[in-house]
Amino acid sequence: MMKCTVCKKEATIRLHRHKAKFCNEHFIEYVYRQVERAIKSFKMFRKDENLIVAVSGGKDSMACIEVLNEMGYRVTGVHINLGIHEFSEKSEEIVRKFSRETGIPIKVYYLKELFGKEIIEFKRPHTEKICSICGKLKRYYLNIIASELGGDAIVTGHNLDDACSILLGNLLFAQVQYLSKQYPVVEGEGELPRKVKPLIRLTDDELKQYVELRKIPFVQEKCPLSKGANTIYYKEVLNYLETKIRSVKAEFYFNYLKKLRPYFLNEEETEVKYCRVCGYKTSSRSGICYVCSIKNELEGSDDKGPY
Ligand code: AMP
Ligand code: FES
Ligand code: ZN
Ligand code: ZN
Repeated sequence: MMKCTVCKKEATIRLHRHKAKFCNEHFIEYVYRQVERAIKSFKMFRKDENLIVAVSGGKDSMACIEVLNEMGYRVTGVHINLGIHEFSEKSEEIVRKFSRETGIPIKVYYLKELFGKEIIEFKRPHTEKICSICGKLKRYYLNIIASELGGDAIVTGHNLDDACSILLGNLLFAQVQYLSKQYPVVEGEGELPRKVKPLIRLTDDELKQYVELRKIPFVQEKCPLSKGANTIYYKEVLNYLETKIRSVKAEFYFNYLKKLRPYFLNEEETEVKYCRVCGYKTSSRSGICYVCSIKNELEGSDDKGPY
């Protein structure tokens, strides 16, 4: 019989990377402890702050809002229906059901209403993948929604696997402008709330086990538009490495934060600019932010901004 490292009763879950085994009760305690450690060590937020949790309906963000609520934080969920056929319908349904059953408030928004277009109508020739455009739209509207709701911080469900795969991609292609931003807390500015990732110490696999154990509903399917995204390959490589080198993901990410990231900090842009259409912060040289420029383009305006 496999024994729980804490109470010596029968263990149900084995975590190779920590050389630990847990019974259900102590696995849940482990998850809370990792979240609490992330919140404290990166000074993410306090109990009296309003947290806007971005809830996609996937296992990570569902676990995130449930754990923070259980731990006594003040959470409001925000779900954006992206209009990706059955995938979005199912995600919205699961999020609404969870909110009804638990009493945790989750507000639902529609990209069509926010942006005026569905993401699937949006096939730009010769440009980046839809996923990347979608990511920028989500970030933009989450900022606006969270500041309208008086949020002190926007919480996302990014976990250790997500952080490692983003970091690997940035390093592979020497995306110096993003490397300094790889951190579990990004401070807010003006009306923009802080952004935080409290699940940063937990893996895909651990979160999957957590939602199953707690019977939290979640969307199993991946977004159909994400097929072929590089991050999928990065995750596969990192999972392979983890089977050969114990705890390599955590080593990679936390060593980067401590020892390498400081070298990239002075690469940050110093001049802060604001979009001349919507007024939000932008790094674009044209003075029009990404979202306003694609909006202009779709509406046939001449003011095309960065493109
Ligand atoms: P992804 O970029 O799909 O890996 O999602 C990363 C994080 O962004 C999730 O953990 C959520 O916190 C948030 N998120 C993604 N999609 C949505 C959505 N449709 N509505 C609200 N938040 C989202
Ligand atoms: Fe945005 Fe898939 S979730 S393209
Ligand atoms: Zn135990
Ligand atoms: Zn703008």
